[in-house]
Amino acid sequence: MNKREDFSKETAFAEYISGQENKGLLRFLTCGSVDDGKSTLIGRLLYDTKLIFEDQLSALAKDSKKHGTVGEDIDLALLVDGLEAEREQGITIDVAYRFFATDKRKFIVADTPGHEQYTRNMATGASTADLAVLLVDARKGIITQTRRHAFIASLLGVRHVVLAVNKIDLVDYSQDRFNEIRKDFEQFAASFAFETSIAIPLSARFGDNVCGKSDNLNWFGGPTLLGHLEDVETAHVNAETPFRLPVQWVNRPDHTFRGYSGTVSGGTVRVGDKVVVSSSGKTSIVDRLVTYDGDLEEAIPGQAITLTLKDEVDISRGDVLATSCNRPEVSDQFASHLIWMSENSLYPGRPYLLKIGGKTVNATVTEIKHKIDVSSLEHLAGKQLDLNEIAFCNISLSQPIAFDPYEVNRETGSFILIDRMTNETAAAGLVWFGLRRAINVHRQALDINKAARGELLNQKPAVLWFTGLSGSGKSTIANALEKKLYDLGKKTYVLDGDNIRHGLNRDLGFTEADRVENIRRVAETTKLFVDAGLITLVSFISPFHSERDMARELVEDGEFYEVHVDTPFETCAERDPKGLYAKAKAGEIKNFTGLDSPYEAPANPEMRVSTQDKTPEQLADEILHRLQSDGVI
Ligand code: ADX
Repeated sequence: MNKREDFSKETAFAEYISGQENKGLLRFLTCGSVDDGKSTLIGRLLYDTKLIFEDQLSALAKDSKKHGTVGEDIDLALLVDGLEAEREQGITIDVAYRFFATDKRKFIVADTPGHEQYTRNMATGASTADLAVLLVDARKGIITQTRRHAFIASLLGVRHVVLAVNKIDLVDYSQDRFNEIRKDFEQFAASFAFETSIAIPLSARFGDNVCGKSDNLNWFGGPTLLGHLEDVETAHVNAETPFRLPVQWVNRPDHTFRGYSGTVSGGTVRVGDKVVVSSSGKTSIVDRLVTYDGDLEEAIPGQAITLTLKDEVDISRGDVLATSCNRPEVSDQFASHLIWMSENSLYPGRPYLLKIGGKTVNATVTEIKHKIDVSSLEHLAGKQLDLNEIAFCNISLSQPIAFDPYEVNRETGSFILIDRMTNETAAAGLVWFGLRRAINVHRQALDINKAARGELLNQKPAVLWFTGLSGSGKSTIANALEKKLYDLGKKTYVLDGDNIRHGLNRDLGFTEADRVENIRRVAETTKLFVDAGLITLVSFISPFHSERDMARELVEDGEFYEVHVDTPFETCAERDPKGLYAKAKAGEIKNFTGLDSPYEAPANPEMRVSTQDKTPEQLADEILHRLQSDGVI
C-alpha cells in the first residue's frame, strides 16, 4: 500500500468518527418567561436522565428548604439556577450550558433567561442551536415573548422548534386547553421556515411526559419531550460550507515560525489547499495545520488551529482566510437584521463599534429600512430602535471587512454592535447581503491640501466646538471670538444651530434621533470647513457625548477644542433670551434640553467657561490666548 492510499484511508476513518460524533449530538436552547418553569424543566431532564450525583442531591434538598418555592419537594430549578444572585431575585441571568446524554444521543442545552431584558442571552444561545424549546405556561398560552423568541430563533437559523406546554397539571391535564394552545402555535409557526415544529404537553414539576409517558396525558399520541429530542433529525451543514478561518492572532514566537491562529468557522481545510486572504486577495498554499496535539492533515469547523502558509503573506488579526474558489464578501456597507439589546436607543448616524470575528471597526446605521412587529411580523417605519426591537437596517463601516450572509455561515455572518460610551453589547446583528455602493465611489485625490490652505491663510485650521444649554451663551461668545480673530486677520466661519436649522437642517426637529442627525451633518460640514483651512466656530447645544466625539474624530488630533459653556439650567431659564424656557415649562415646547430632553455634559473638554463670573468678552480673550499659546494663530 503506498503512502497516499494509507493517508486517504486514515482521512476517511477520521471523517467517519467525526460524523458519528456529530450525528449523536443535539444542541438546543430553552426559552420562556421567568415563571414558565424553564429551570425546573432542565433540572427534570438532568434528574430523570440520572445525571445528578448523590452529594448534589443532598445539597439540593438543603437548598430547597432555604430558597425553594415548592414546599417540601426538591426544587429542581435550584439545580440549574447556579448563581446566587439569580436565586435571590428568582430570575436566571446568564446563559448556562449543560451537558447530558441518553443511549441515543448527547445533548448540549443552553439555558437562556426569559426575563424581557435578557433577549441578548437568548440570541447568544440560539446562534449555535439546532433546536429551540419554547416554554409556555398552560394557563397563559402563547404570549408576545413566545413570538419574539420564535422569531429570534428563526432569524438566527434555528430550524426546529418545540412548544413545551408546561404546567399542564395546573389546568387538570386538559386536552382542550392543550389543543387551543397548539392551534395558536401552529398558526404562527407556519409563518417561519422551521423544518419541524411540534407542541408537547408536560409538567416539568411532576415529570409528566418529560422523559416518560404519563397516565395523566394518555390522550396525547405524540412523543415525550426527551423522546422527540432524541429522534428529531437535524442536518449539520457547517462542514459543507466554504472554508473560513477568522484570524484571532498572528503567532510569531521567533523569526522561523509564523502561523495564523483561530477557530475554523466553516468548511474543511487540508494541507496543500489554496487559500486567500480576504482583505488583500493574496493567495498561498496551506503548509501546516498545527494544534496542541500535533499537526493535522485537515481541520473542520469548531477546531482551533494555527495555520501556516508556504509564502510570506501580509496577514493580521481580524483577516479571514478562506478557500480561494469561494471567497467571503468584502465591503464597507451591508444590509442586516439587528436585535437591539440596550436600554439606550439606537439612532441612525450615531457611531458604534462593530465586532465581527477578530475584527472591530467603527460603524453607523445609515438607515432603518423597517422595524418588525414580532406579533404580526408586520414591517413598521421607525426613526430609532428601542430595547428588544428588531429591525432591518443598512450599516456603514469605517473600513471594508470580510463577511458572509448569515444563512451561508452563522459565524462569519453575525456581529455585535458595542456602545462606545458604556462598552456594553448593544445589538446582535445578522448580515443579509453586502451593499457595494461605496466601493464604487473612490476618493478624488487633490493636489492642494489642508496644510497648504492653512499656510496661505497664515493659520492652523481648527474647530472651536461650543456646547451647552440653550441660552448658555455659546453664540454670544462665538460671536465675540470671531470678531477678535477677524481683527487679527484670521479666516473664520461660525456654524450656528439657529442658522443651520433654517437651511441645511430645516427638516430636523428636536427628538433624540433628529438631534443625532443634526450634529452628524454639522460635524461633517465642520470637517469640510477645517479642510478649507478655516478656524471654524461651531455653536450647537450638541447634547450627546457620542456625536461630539464623532465630530472630534473627523478632524486631526490637536485640531478640536471642545468648549463647554457651563451655565446652570436655572441661570439659562432666568435669562431666557428667546422666551423658550417659559414656553417649555408651560408645556408648549416638547423635548426641551435640560427639561425633558437630556444634556450630557462633557467629561474632559479642552476648555470649560462660565458666563456667571466673566463677560463674553473676557471669555473670548481667554480662548484667544489659548489658541495663541497652542500656535493655532
Ligand atoms: S441640538 O440639540 O440639536 O444641538 P441646536 O443647537 O441645533 O440643538 O438648536 C438649539 C436651538 O434651537 C436652541 O438654542 C433654541 O433656540 C431652539 N430650540 C427650539 N426648540 C428647542 C428644544 N426643544 N430644545 C432645545 N432647543 C430648542
